Amino acid sequence: MTTLKAFRGELLSVSRDPRDAPDAVRHEPDGLLVVEDGVIVDRGAYALLADQYAGVETQPLPGLIVPGFIDAHVHYPQTDRIASYGEQLLDWLDKHIFPAEMAFVDKAHADAVAAFFLDELLRNGTTSALVFPTVHERSVDALFEAALTRRMRIVSGKVLMDQGPEGLKDTVASGREETEALIRRWRGRGRLGYAVTPRFALASSDAQLADAGALLAEHPDVLMHTHLSENRHEIAAVAARFPDSADYLDIYDRFGLVTSRSVFAHGVHLSERACHRLHESGAGIAVCPSSNLFLGSGHFDFGQADRHHLRLGLGTDVGAGTSFSLLRTAGLAYQAALAREDRLDPFRALYLATAGSAALLHIGDKVGALEVGQEADFVVLDPAATPLLARRTADADLATRLFALQILGDDRAVARTYVLGECAWQRP
Ligand code: GUN
Ligand code: ZN
Repeated sequence: MTTLKAFRGELLSVSRDPRDAPDAVRHEPDGLLVVEDGVIVDRGAYALLADQYAGVETQPLPGLIVPGFIDAHVHYPQTDRIASYGEQLLDWLDKHIFPAEMAFVDKAHADAVAAFFLDELLRNGTTSALVFPTVHERSVDALFEAALTRRMRIVSGKVLMDQGPEGLKDTVASGREETEALIRRWRGRGRLGYAVTPRFALASSDAQLADAGALLAEHPDVLMHTHLSENRHEIAAVAARFPDSADYLDIYDRFGLVTSRSVFAHGVHLSERACHRLHESGAGIAVCPSSNLFLGSGHFDFGQADRHHLRLGLGTDVGAGTSFSLLRTAGLAYQAALAREDRLDPFRALYLATAGSAALLHIGDKVGALEVGQEADFVVLDPAATPLLARRTADADLATRLFALQILGDDRAVARTYVLGECAWQRP
């Protein structure tokens, strides 16, 4: 038996980058979203659809209904190391992160953190994510099992790092074997997807980077997920190890890792050549402004990315990122852009946190824009969630309300999160 239900409220989505397609912003001040078996079957103005769905149970949802947020880059094993003091990237990894990741050799620990992490995503309105686990095969099982229970759309893959520290490294052979076993075990299950995940150029041997490229070529349905040109000290270390490469991206390119299925986190310091190559390949950048600020890495250059028409999404990058909230991350993206004299408008920021990230994850046909045929993952935002938000958004137009939610809002502004048309989180 199929279940048909409807939700009535203010609907807002941005299906394409408004920089290229200003008409991509879709807004129904009083809209109806009709859902059958978790999939959106109709959407439009309530006045136009009310008669047609008069017999369907309709739930009013006060607030602003937007697509579920999609975090294009986040590390679940770093959840308990968020807000670790004092270091930039490479020292921060050594001092705070690698010791924490070693604990994920224990499946019970991984299970507990994965459960908290996914619940925290839902509390923040995030329904899909591209996630770094650890080098341990079972850290992926823990995440995928927990995602399956919650019916969330999660993409992840065992981290490849044969040059990692003692206690946190694999080998070319074990990396391949475990990657293939995980792809076999999880392919086609629930709403899960796999990403070949070399940590970054410094953490893998040339042989492992080459094998990652081979794995990507052998499995046309998987993504490639890594870090790129994040922090100046990291970039100097990378240049010292690969003196013959044109730039950081070129290293990945030489190993077959730059394709339209590649998602690179950060890209804070990119050469013009790298931007050209990113555009040509169709690879995407997960912009992570809170992390870039926290680790002293710099500000993402939206002007340069836009000149090259790069595909962008938005990531929290917790634990270097300082919040699971993509609202808050969107507000920081605005501030990072302005630091370089660029303006990120709030509709474009919403796009980056939803359909932009979905396109990077190759799930744009499934989620991200509340379009008919897409899965009914959505969030109800409360523009009066705090006394200050309430004052700032009273009688305000849509752009002002959305911008205020991004600058002043966070998990407190998420009244409800729906996964496949079912309420998965409700603010107490
Ligand atoms: N580069 C390599 N590993 C990491 C990581 O865990 N976090 C961040 N922000 N950058 C990285
Ligand atoms: Zn990261």
